[in-house]
Amino acid sequence: MMRPLQKKVFLVMVVSAGLSGIVYYTQWLGAHTTVDVQLKPRNKMEKLLQERLQHWEHKFNTIPYQPKESMAGVLVHNSCVCEGEPKRINQPFMDLLFPRVSAQFLHTAFNAAELPEIKHRRAQEYRNFQIRSKTPADLLIIAEANSPLQYPIQGVEVRPLQTILIPGLGLQEALRKLHIVNLTATMGTFDVSAEVEGVKVKGEGSMHMTLSSSLLPNLNRQLQFVTYTNTLFHPNTADTVSFETDGHQSIFIIKIRHGVTPRLYNPGSKGDYNISALVTIATKTFLRYDKLQGLIDSIRRYYPTVTIVIADDTEHPKPVTGPYIEHYIMPFGKGWFAGRNLAVSQVSTKYVLWVDDDFIFTAKTKVEKLVDVLERTTLDLVGGAVQEVTGYTATFRQTMVREDGGEEGDCLHIRRGFHHALQGFPNCVVCDGVINFFLGRTEKVRQVGFDPRLARVAHLEFFIDGLGSLHVGSCDDVIVSHTSKIKLPWGQSDSDKAYAKFRYPSTSSDSTRSNNGLFYFKNRFQCLTSN
Ligand SMILES: *[C@@H]1O[C@H](CO)[C@@H](O)[C@H](O)[C@H]1NC(C)=O
Ligand SMILES: *[C@@H]1O[C@H](CO)[C@@H](O)[C@H](O)[C@H]1NC(C)=O
Repeated sequence: MMRPLQKKVFLVMVVSAGLSGIVYYTQWLGAHTTVDVQLKPRNKMEKLLQERLQHWEHKFNTIPYQPKESMAGVLVHNSCVCEGEPKRINQPFMDLLFPRVSAQFLHTAFNAAELPEIKHRRAQEYRNFQIRSKTPADLLIIAEANSPLQYPIQGVEVRPLQTILIPGLGLQEALRKLHIVNLTATMGTFDVSAEVEGVKVKGEGSMHMTLSSSLLPNLNRQLQFVTYTNTLFHPNTADTVSFETDGHQSIFIIKIRHGVTPRLYNPGSKGDYNISALVTIATKTFLRYDKLQGLIDSIRRYYPTVTIVIADDTEHPKPVTGPYIEHYIMPFGKGWFAGRNLAVSQVSTKYVLWVDDDFIFTAKTKVEKLVDVLERTTLDLVGGAVQEVTGYTATFRQTMVREDGGEEGDCLHIRRGFHHALQGFPNCVVCDGVINFFLGRTEKVRQVGFDPRLARVAHLEFFIDGLGSLHVGSCDDVIVSHTSKIKLPWGQSDSDKAYAKFRYPSTSSDSTRSNNGLFYFKNRFQCLTSN
């Protein structure tokens, strides 16, 4: 039983502990109520790392060296060029067999008067983009030789405002009177989760903590209990932590980020793939209702309950109805990519199958095969083949390389072909761009998106935007038929003629110009080559 005085003391202790808790809590919250997320060029740590690297690089300046010629073209120099192959005369068939590489210079999308201003603005936007998309986790960090410090270089991660044990810290040096290490952070605080005898800890709960001991094993034991708490809320960044002892400094990073929130789709019951549950067919139409109806009828023959999403920017739209059909009317002439974007935004299945409105499904249009590829690989998107009326089947496989080009922008090199065969799928290969008949993971396709600024002639632009985030395949055994693209003018229906006028305007140079302008500014290319 407590005596009255003890009770009073106990009460005071509880209240003051509570109060100090509140004070501590509000101080702690108050300490960082404003987080600077403005675009800043470089921080101190980045400068320090760069200086150390330069110092190392300059250390051996006086030792002569001989460049190796065979490597001259291989190393990236920020100086890419776009070179076309010369025209071959009198050999038209050679061009068909071995397509000639042509080069395009994109700054020509702008006139000489406006170009300097465009260049300046592009450079500014690019700088900000780089700052937004980089974190200290992208910094080059060199572990210097013979450091007595042991620490994790990469792979430490903390959730925003939470606490972790830092793994792997240690000190290995000759015995001396006093062993000291310092830890310094910029976005969080250190503490210890347990105390070890014979070790002095200074600065617990702050951004700078010092551990010292005359007993090295005890110090190392204590280092196993060092915790890091993120106190500055700024997810998707990293704290650059400095770990020091006399004469040596190591730097490592702790990534600060939320756990990834997955977006999963229930594939339905086991067994064969249920295409209606897994796939939505998306298309964009403009004027060609006869073609569209042909497509829908052909799909229904094989997939009676799969949902078809249609985006339509015809001036005077006609109703398109039927079970499992969603027809979205858009403002007149919004354009090709805007329509693709709208259609894809309405998909609620795991996969989206893109088709053009003048395609026809046949017995060879086995969507299951494409689903199988995406279900059993890590690919994000897989294209099929399109059979023309002439019988010719096209897969339109492309590879793309973005080569560094410094101030002027980068060079884009597009070539027909693919990177490698796909193991386990003898009809499939891996490439960077495919034909406009493809199955994609809905989330990934949305993530890249179809830039609505591309109104008329556009296709590869989607894959160029996706370069670096889309992993693309192509299979030639899933074939859709194309109804007459190359038709003689007198054989065209009225809607065909109106369509041709709109989709392929006679002044298509305007459209090329605006696409080139986007390549130049948005994608920051200076030029591109293709064959
Ligand atoms: C460690 O930090 C303390 C206090 O900030 C400082 O006096 C000392 O010089 C530092 N030691 C090393 C090795 O960095
Ligand atoms: C396939 O999926 C659709 C749509 O989710 C569902 O209505 C149908 O019952 C499923 N079929 C089978 C055989 O599971």
